[in-house]
Amino acid sequence: MSNSITIKKKINSFNKKIEVSGDKSLSIRWILFSSLANGKSESKNLLKSEDVLAAINAIKKLGIKSEFKKDKCIIYGRGIDGYKYKKNITINAKNSGTLGRLILGLLINAENKIKIIGDKSLSKRDFKRVTKPLEKFGASFKLKNKKFLPLEIQGSKFLKPISYFEKKGSAQCKSSIIFAGLRANGTTFIKAKKSRNHTEILCRYLNLPIKLKSKKKYDYIEIKKAKKIKPLNYNIPSDISSSAFFIVLTLLSKNSQMTIKNVNINPSRTGVIDILNMMGSKITFSNIKKYKGEKIADIKIKSVNNFKSINCPTNLNSSAIDEFLIIFLIAARAKGISKFKDLSELNHKESPRLDWGAKILNSMGVKTIKTNNSIQIFGNPNLNIKKKIIIKNYLKDHRVFMTSVIAALTFGGKWKIYDKDSINSSFPNFLKLIKNLNENN
Ligand code: S3P
Repeated sequence: MSNSITIKKKINSFNKKIEVSGDKSLSIRWILFSSLANGKSESKNLLKSEDVLAAINAIKKLGIKSEFKKDKCIIYGRGIDGYKYKKNITINAKNSGTLGRLILGLLINAENKIKIIGDKSLSKRDFKRVTKPLEKFGASFKLKNKKFLPLEIQGSKFLKPISYFEKKGSAQCKSSIIFAGLRANGTTFIKAKKSRNHTEILCRYLNLPIKLKSKKKYDYIEIKKAKKIKPLNYNIPSDISSSAFFIVLTLLSKNSQMTIKNVNINPSRTGVIDILNMMGSKITFSNIKKYKGEKIADIKIKSVNNFKSINCPTNLNSSAIDEFLIIFLIAARAKGISKFKDLSELNHKESPRLDWGAKILNSMGVKTIKTNNSIQIFGNPNLNIKKKIIIKNYLKDHRVFMTSVIAALTFGGKWKIYDKDSINSSFPNFLKLIKNLNENN
């Protein structure tokens, strides 16, 4: 079967209610917390993607059983000290930075060396950002070229707490240290630039010894050694990062509307909505509910004819960090020059995404000025692509693939986009949902 898709036609108008798959960040965190709980935890709507299945396999290697029953996933936790650290364990984090980094925090008490490997994309990403602070707890590491996977972790019995300043706005770094803090004797202090806060919310829901103080720019977290974790039954809400592709598809399509049901709208994730609304959209939330500390709603979107350019406030960067590629497509349609700054983290994702954002836009005929950490996009409200565009060799970054599909369906042109299996890491039914929109009109 071919691993590329060809798109030659814009999508027709649609008016649909859809549901996208479960939130990836919450799915992986549910697995890790449940693996430490005493007894049986159940989830519904767990994202069944490669990143999440890699997390299930990782805990299996550590002696934690799980099973899928219809729409449920069940994990049989063996308590906070229940991991079986056999000799020569290798954990394959595949494409998942979240799994690879978060789990290291839990492995700092490993009695034997554990090897962490990943796919080609993950093997190009910086792991020193987590191993450096984790070393201070007392664990030791060996990394390829001092920074990359494969790495080896050797835990310690004598774990001391640390004080850590997280400056990048990385929830993966912050969460890894929170997990390690649950194992160390004493109080771990974290000052963290704002980033998604699902780990903290789950710690609080589980009554773990965490104290949180939120200031304008930074979060202050204190975490103590946990003695016991109760089982965590959880209905995973839908993923706003997956929803973002359908939000932008609707905004850019003619005379269309969409409702996306039951999406996690945690304010540390909704930067995409703020940015798109600043650019002239009117995206609204309805049926807003609280669920175990998270916020959930239906998202309503309508096509927009005239977009404004934006000078994107950098304080929205972390809450929209996974959505910039798709936001850039709105900037391509907007009147004027849009500016996005302070985005060096984008080049640390599954692919160098700032570079790929510029590449996709340039191949569409959109002018950009890019530096290491910023991009200016010269929008064209009348852009209508006629030429052939090929997208390949992008390290199978799922978000590059999905952004290209949305661009093809809304700007025209004849696109050939390689590596469609990239969607399996975060959103396996993405193309099926697109097909349903196209067919039932
Ligand atoms: C994630 C954090 C973000 C994000 C990633 C998921 C998480 O990464 O890009 O897709 O679940 O904690 P960083 O922490 O590296 O910013």
